[in-house]
Amino acid sequence: MYRKRFHFPLGKIGIIGGGQLGKMMAQQAKRMGFHIAVLDPTPNCPAAQTADEHILGDFFDENKLTELVEKSDVTTYDIEHVNTAVLQKLADAGHDIHPSPHLLEILQDKLRQKEVLREHHVPVAAFQQADPPDFPANLQFPLVQKVRHGGYDGRGVMVLRDRRALANAIPAPSMIETFVDFKKELAVMVARSADGEIKCHPVVEMVFNDEANICDMVIAPARIPQHCAERARNVARHSIEAIDGVGIFGVEMFLTQDDDVLVNEIAARPHNSGHYTIEACSTCQFEQHIRAVAGLPLGATNLLSPAVMVNLLGCCNSEGPPVIEGLHEALSLPGLSFHFYGKKVSLPFRKMGHVTIVDTAVEDAIAKAAKAKKLVTVTGADRSLKKSRVQM
Ligand SMILES: Nc1ncnc2c1ncn2[C@@H]1O[C@H](COP(=O)(O)OP(=O)(O)OP(=O)(O)O)[C@@H](O)[C@H]1O
Ligand SMILES: [Mg+2]
Repeated sequence: MYRKRFHFPLGKIGIIGGGQLGKMMAQQAKRMGFHIAVLDPTPNCPAAQTADEHILGDFFDENKLTELVEKSDVTTYDIEHVNTAVLQKLADAGHDIHPSPHLLEILQDKLRQKEVLREHHVPVAAFQQADPPDFPANLQFPLVQKVRHGGYDGRGVMVLRDRRALANAIPAPSMIETFVDFKKELAVMVARSADGEIKCHPVVEMVFNDEANICDMVIAPARIPQHCAERARNVARHSIEAIDGVGIFGVEMFLTQDDDVLVNEIAARPHNSGHYTIEACSTCQFEQHIRAVAGLPLGATNLLSPAVMVNLLGCCNSEGPPVIEGLHEALSLPGLSFHFYGKKVSLPFRKMGHVTIVDTAVEDAIAKAAKAKKLVTVTGADRSLKKSRVQM
């Protein structure tokens, strides 16, 4: 929007979705002097606590989306499940919306996303369409079923070990994919501006909580050979060029047993695997995203220090207003930064906040992160739950 000259105020940025990603985006944008309007159905949602304006409304509400886009110089998202048809109309009418609604529509459908990546020769695991109960014959097990629309944090993803497991498949339009016996899960944040400038943050390792299938630790830099890191960055960069992305993108990848890199999926927004960049990189993912969508030059992405990020998830057997314990002990660990998103209710496995530890050696940061993970707990004050259940 402001390509060459600046004047004050810099402009209005609209954010669809007011969760933690919107909040951290808004914090960086406010630091730079932008005006922020956010659209979200929850009063006092995390991003509304930082934004200048909050439009209370749903991501599929045509009137509310139009109101946000019309009052913003540029509109972006913190969530992918939004009404792309309305946004496409607004983009066609000349409004700046990044990433483009057309791209978002492709990425919302896991099958279309993989087809487009494969068309552009991005390495991905073998996959095909499958709509339960109609599975193709001659399947090779184990395989992974992925629901095409609406999945997040591992919901809508199911490993099917053998033919009998097909009976438990999720009954929704899906794709099935070869099970990848990976060494590590990697991620790279890639930012690209409308004029094609592109920059990658360092390659990180994502470590998952098996119980909830949620990423609970991110290690930067990834402990992998240099040639694998280079390969991962090249594949990630190529993926975003291939889809003509504008903004920042989280590219999730698998490092296979024979050091091949396969793209798992692309998130068209800042990503949990990039939170460490706030403390550990010259330019954090949120500022980088704001720069990319606002047409400003991208910032340097170098790692200033090894870092480990740990998600603070709501305790698995309680819900209600969050109660944080162990914070005093955790904050006495040198190099630890604490982030709390301001969600009013803690639910089992809900992402409530995170901590990042920077240290001179990555192994020391990992040890401190493990300590912090044990020390800090977030429980819900209202009631104990007998059965654990996963909810965002
Ligand atoms: N083909 C595969 N082979 C082996 N494991 C897989 C495969 N696809 C996905 N997984 C595992 O399932 C996890 C979730 O898959 P995926 O990232 O596609 O789903 P998601 O619901 O969009 O997750 P998130 O929102 O956390 O990114 C992956 O991080 C990985 O651990
Ligand atoms: Mg994923």
